[in-house]
Order: sequence, then C-alpha cells, then structure tokens
Amino acid sequence: MKVKAPCSSANLGVGFDVFGLCLEEPYDIIEVKKIDEGIEIEGKDIPLNPKENVAGVVAEKMLKDFNIESGVKIKIKKGIKGGSGLGSSAASAAGTAFAINELFNLKLSKLKLVDYASYGELIASGAKHADNVAPAIYGGFTIVNYNPLNVLHIDVDFNVIVAIPNVKIETKKAREIIPKEVSLKDMVHNLGRATGMIYALFNNDLELFGKYMMEDKIVEPYRGKLIPHYFEVKEKLKNLAYGVCISGSGPSILVIPKEEFQDEIIDILSSYYDKIIKTRVGKGCELY
Ligand code: HSE
Repeated sequence: MKVKAPCSSANLGVGFDVFGLCLEEPYDIIEVKKIDEGIEIEGKDIPLNPKENVAGVVAEKMLKDFNIESGVKIKIKKGIKGGSGLGSSAASAAGTAFAINELFNLKLSKLKLVDYASYGELIASGAKHADNVAPAIYGGFTIVNYNPLNVLHIDVDFNVIVAIPNVKIETKKAREIIPKEVSLKDMVHNLGRATGMIYALFNNDLELFGKYMMEDKIVEPYRGKLIPHYFEVKEKLKNLAYGVCISGSGPSILVIPKEEFQDEIIDILSSYYDKIIKTRVGKGCELY
C-alpha cells in the first residue's frame, strides 16, 4: 500500500494550533506492507527505531488497538524536509495512519485517522497538536478543536508560495519560547482576526483572509525573530501578496500571492532564501 502524504502549513498566523492548510507539494511517499510480526522502518536520515519514529508510533498504536497480529514494514521516502515548518513529521504520521487503514480495511473515519496520526506529533514535538495532521488527512483548510478532538474542514483552492530559509527550527523549542498565558486584550484581538478569516473564506475574500492572517499578536512576534529577515520580507511583500505568515513553527514562510505579482514575489524571496516552492492548496493523503 503506497500513499502520497502531503506537507501542510499550520497556524496561518492567528490560528495557533487550530488552523491548518494542506499543500500539494512537497510530499512524502509512505509504503506499508504486512510482515509476520513487529514494526520495521526503512528510509534515509530518519530514526529506524519504531519507538522513536512518528510512523512507528502511529503503526504500533493502530495494530494494538485493532488486535492485528501481523506486523508492518514501513518504507518512508521523505520529500518534506524535517524541521522546516511544513508538517514533515505530520505527513509521515498521517500517511502511515491512512495506509494502515487501507491495508487492513479498518474503515476508520478521517477524524479517527487524525487522532491516530497525532500520536506521532506527541513524540515529534511534545504536544499532541493536530493542526498539521488534520489538513494532511482532510486536504484543504482545517480547523481543529481539542478535548474532544474535532476537525472542521473547508474546501479551498488557491496558489501558495513557500520559502524555506536555510535554518532548522525544532517545534519543541519554538513552542518553549512563546508565552504560556496571554492577555484578554490579545485574546480578543486574535479571536476577531481568526473568526474573520473564516468569514473571509466563505465570502471568497482572500484579501481579508490574508490581511487578518498577518495580524497575529501572540506567537509571531516571538518566533519571527528566529527566522532570518522574516519581518523585513513580510514588510516587502505586504502589497504584493494577500498574506504572509510563518508556516507552522518555522522557518518556512507561507505566502498567498496575488496572481499578478507571483513572479515579483518569487524574485524577492529568492534574494533572501535558497529554496522557494510554488504550489497550491492540496487534497490530503491519497493512494499513490
Ligand atoms: N501549531 C504547531 C506550532 C505547528 O506552531 O507549534 C507545528 O508545526
């Protein structure tokens, strides 16, 4: 069973741990085969011990919960760079949950797959956040609620440009530097923007969506400092793009371009960063 597991961009500015967007590229290819027993991992530059690998953790939990006696061999071909803020661990976790569901004909709902995949996030970042695994499974734009877990899905389609600065940021560390408590004033500010973004999506108003996406007062002021030239680039792009924000915990930068300025945006991003990807909203995990 071979699955294409797409990258994703979490947070979208004001939607910390809640909003997520699936992107068409880059993606991982996850291949899962039945073996007699145990869990084996194969792949380049990834932990091969199943207990330390997000895919291994997800597989172990699913096999145990469904009393599956055989084991699995999981072959992972990484297309998404780890520590780049593009949901690399989430893609492998989501792809594994999706593949095991198909391989053993478990008939699980998408929500259940998100729940299983988020066990991988727990070992990857120390928190069972689902704002990357949800879009990786559902595609499009997702809103995650916790305790109990729920995912709201909105089908969207627009172009996206991603810049990947050449630094690695560990999600665990990027979570440690943000405040644990926020003021009522900032909560009201972000809540208004986040709910406004949903209003904008339902009104096909990318201009408003992107404007509010850029106005996070809680997380970006801290994390932006970890990304070379982030605030400078954001300022330069603000009239050329609908919106610019940090992708997940960074360092990748997500840009929603205005069609007519795409080339100009790519030129500006290329003058700061080596890797620029032109992509669009993706459809979630699928058989490959
Ligand atoms: N919401 C998570 C964070 C996403 O920002 O820490 C990590 O990719």
